[in-house]
Formats: sequence, structure tokens, C-alpha cells
Amino acid sequence: MNEDPAKLSLSNFLAGESNDPLQAPPSFTNWMRACAWAAELYEPELLATADAHTMITYGGKPRPVINLCSYNYLGLANHPEVLVAAHEALRTRGLGACGSPMLSGMTDLHRELERRVAKFLGREDAMLFNSGFGGALGTISGLLRKTDVAILDNRSHLSLRDGAVLSRCRTEKFEHNDPVSLDTALSRQKGRRQLVIIEGIYSMDGDFGNLKELIDVAESHGASVFIDEAHSMLACGEHGRGAAEKFRVEDRIPLVYGTFSKAFGALGGFVAGSKETLQYLRFYAHPYVYSCALPPVVVAAILKALEIGTSQPELRAQLWENADYFHTQLQDLGIDTGASTTYVMPIVIGDRERMYRLGHELRRRGLWVAPVDYPAVPQNRICFRACVTAKHTRADLDEALNILADTLVPAALQHA
Ligand SMILES: Cc1ncc(COP(=O)(O)O)c(C=O)c1O
Repeated sequence: MNEDPAKLSLSNFLAGESNDPLQAPPSFTNWMRACAWAAELYEPELLATADAHTMITYGGKPRPVINLCSYNYLGLANHPEVLVAAHEALRTRGLGACGSPMLSGMTDLHRELERRVAKFLGREDAMLFNSGFGGALGTISGLLRKTDVAILDNRSHLSLRDGAVLSRCRTEKFEHNDPVSLDTALSRQKGRRQLVIIEGIYSMDGDFGNLKELIDVAESHGASVFIDEAHSMLACGEHGRGAAEKFRVEDRIPLVYGTFSKAFGALGGFVAGSKETLQYLRFYAHPYVYSCALPPVVVAAILKALEIGTSQPELRAQLWENADYFHTQLQDLGIDTGASTTYVMPIVIGDRERMYRLGHELRRRGLWVAPVDYPAVPQNRICFRACVTAKHTRADLDEALNILADTLVPAALQHA
């Protein structure tokens, strides 16, 4: 491949180039070499907690940064009471669960968390996964069959798409958040069991799923709906029950799926619903049956995080106040935040090379945002992703805005 490296993307290296599938394609290795300066922005080493101010390695040295890169939306990952709960569980339970939940990895703490999650969400039962990714993939692939069809929003997370692929069902896509496009997709696939798969908050665009209208359309076709609440659980809705609570559609959703890796500040995923469905799923979700259960130390921490997240609504209020402030200020600076209406905000740059150059400049100045490149987003929407949390002070947000104004606004004027 002799093309300009800046014109290539990860989508160009999917074909095998040698007889050995365990060897990376040489063209990929060459491309990575040519783009090493840009790739340096990935996998930065975090040297402290995922707090609003933290320390990462940049240019081979520790660098203090304002952290707009974290899913620690409510600040629970380093909440003192959560840490105490984890310490205590570590002392009494040791490190790992040392077995699949089916055979030996289930503890009384796991059962307690299942009960508390079910009660929180007003469902009969809940089951836990050792990752959010595994939870989504396991639930979709555990319930859908070859003769079914999964109908996914075209911005769906890969865990959902991979779940559909693993189930070997038919898949259809519809235009992001578009009820008319969903209606067309459902009409194309009549006569099969249909599952419409959407998200509470889209993780790259930071917009809410158009839940009410999409559910109306799905119901008019007799289709079921699955909502991925990874980014919305505990952080949205009056009581923290996610986007479904916020948009008052909880009673139209038979299964609730969320992660513990975002607002809970921990790790893992869960699904809550009827006893019968979960009893079945426990035997058919491969990431549940064939993978080690969450470490008890993590479960104990999540129990505390759930208690704090449900008893201190002021954390959610602070998160949303911060998000609204930051969003308004970015817009006043003329920065394109796409369709975001939440604490997840793309900062659209639209040109790959410029995005990586600016990314280095932002890190040098002490602002940590995530680079998001094609194919994770369309080419013309290449962006940084900024996540605001409840722990950012107004001074943190203003400092971040000053850095963004100094760095992005002159660059935008140059390209106008
Ligand atoms: C929408 C969505 N679903 C599922 C996941 C997977 O969750 P986890 O990181 O907990 O494995 C993510 C992760 O970012 C996500 O954004």
C-alpha cells in the first residue's frame, strides 16, 4: 500500500497479507510506524485516580491534567466510602472470585448486589457480568436465534453488534434515532421475531436515544426493544434509573441493561428483568457461564456505589449542572459539539491530522480529552470526546475552556 498514511484508517487493514493469521499485516505495521506521533495519544498511562484533576504520562514524563476523559461521572471510583468497602472486602474475601458464577464464583455479595439492582430497577431479578461488553454481547447472543432479526441504530456500540453477529441472526440497521428509517427496516423484516436495539446515551455523539418515538414504532410492529443504558444508568433520571426513567418508558422495556464501569465507577455489567428470562439467560449467555465472576472486592465497592448513587441525588444534579455549563460555554466559543445534550460531548474537528496535532497541543497544555477517529465516527466528524463529571469544579471547567479557546479557536480560524 503506497497511499498517504494520513488517508488510511483502521478499516484498510482487515485483509490478511500473509499465510500466517497470527502475523500482523506488514502494511499495518508500516502505517503505525508512519503515524506513531499520532498514536502516541492512545493508551496514555494514568498515574493516579480517575479524578477531575489527575496525572498521566505525556512525552515520557508525568503531566498533571484536567481530566475530561473519564466515565467517573459521579466521582464514585474514588469516593472514600467506596474505597473503605473495597478494602474491607479485600481483607475478608481476597482478590478474585476464582470461578464462573455457575460453578464456584458466586458469593453472598454477588447475590446481594443482584437483589439490590433488581430492587433499584423495580424488576424481579438481576444478573451480573464481569464486563459491560460481555453483558451486552451475552444478553443479545443468549436470547436471539438464527431465525430472528436484530434491528440496530447505525451508531450502536460494538458489544451490541457483536452480540447479534454471535447469535447468527439477521441484522438490519436504521438511521440514527430516526423513527421513519426504523419503520422501514421493521417492514423489510416482517414475519420474524424482531429486536430493536438502541441506547440511552450514545457514547460517541453524547445524544439521548429517541426512546419514546422509536418504542412507539417498534410496538406498532410487535417488536421488542432493548436499551443499552451503559452511559445513562445512575446518572440520568430523577432516581438514577437511566434514560428509560427520564423519558418515562420503563414499563415498556422488559429487560434493563447497564454497566458498572461508568457512573458506578467500577467494572462489570448487569441485566435486570423477569425471573424466567434471567433463569434462561444464565444458561445461554456465554460470557456469564464461561467466564470468571466479578471479584468480590469489586462487588462490595459497587454495592456502596449504588447506595451512594441512589441516596445522594445531588451528585446527579451537579453532573448535569456541570454538563449544561460546559456545553453552553463550548457553544459560545463556536465549538461544534454535534448533537450532544449530555455530559458526553464530541468536540468536532473533522480532519484527522489536525485533530492529532491539536490533541498533542491540548495535552501539552494540561487538558486530557480522548481522540476519536474513523471508523468509530464518520470521517467528517473526527473529534475529541470530552466527558464532564460531578467532580469538576467551576474553576476546572473554566480552565479547560480557556485551554480549548486558546488552542482550538485560532486553529479553526486558520482553516475557515
Ligand atoms: C454503549 C456502550 N455499551 C457497552 C459498553 C461496554 O461497557 P464496559 O466498558 O463496561 O465493558 C460501552 C463501553 O464504553 C458502551 O459505551
